[in-house]
Amino acid sequence: MIGLARQVVNGPKAGVATVSSHGSTLRCVDDAGVEFVIRQARPSDAGAVGDILAELARSEDFILLSPEEIGADVVRRAEDLARMEKNSVRWHVAIVEQAGGIVGMLDLRAVPLKKCDHVMELGLGLVAEATDRGIGTQLILYALARARDLGYRKVRLFVIACNDRARHVYRKVGFEETGRFIDEVRVGDGIEDLIVMEKPLQ
Ligand SMILES: CC(C)(COP(=O)(O)OP(=O)(O)OC[C@H]1O[C@@H](n2cnc3c(N)ncnc32)[C@H](O)[C@@H]1OP(=O)(O)O)[C@@H](O)C(=O)NCCC(=O)NCCS
Repeated sequence: MIGLARQVVNGPKAGVATVSSHGSTLRCVDDAGVEFVIRQARPSDAGAVGDILAELARSEDFILLSPEEIGADVVRRAEDLARMEKNSVRWHVAIVEQAGGIVGMLDLRAVPLKKCDHVMELGLGLVAEATDRGIGTQLILYALARARDLGYRKVRLFVIACNDRARHVYRKVGFEETGRFIDEVRVGDGIEDLIVMEKPLQ
């Protein structure tokens, strides 16, 4: 994971990457100077990962999952994370730790089709209190570096059109909007397009 260290450190804000028995760990500081760590999730993180997903799902403007679609079974989530650890070339879940708590996560997985297995799909989110402090930008750079290190050629994601902050951050790190599903997602009383964004990895 030497490449991960090099590429993340070269991002807009400095971070220090190290390699542990559980894979790469990135230590950074946010815009307020508070340290945070991005590391691969472990089965023991299952409860916290479920809590983050549930919190993100409650903010219906931003993510596709609804609260009732977040599995509450911690044992099952721990088994999933154990499977992820064994298959970490094709599937990576990372968490963001700050001040003793888990404040965000990402899910990066290879498209499960042989003809598309050079492509990874990314999803991520931070709890509301952790946003707007530069953490999300580092989290995306971490994901891009990991995908690039593993030899993938493209990362894609989906973002709801009204999520201006996420679209801004994705564009800032080099994603381009390459398509959209019209009137795809119900948000409150309205309906939003779902935008496809992609970033080739050189
Ligand atoms: C989207 C998300 C990952 C971004 O991470 P973050 O840590 O909040 O973002 P950063 O602090 O790194 O960067 C925020 C940038 O967005 C800008 N921004 C903030 N609010 C904005 C808005 N309403 N419209 C446009 N830009 C906005 C900031 O000015 C900053 O820009 P800059 O870096 O050019 O100065 C995070 O906010 C999040 O998880 N939100 C909730 C869930 C979500 O939307 N997930 C993504 C689903 S696709």
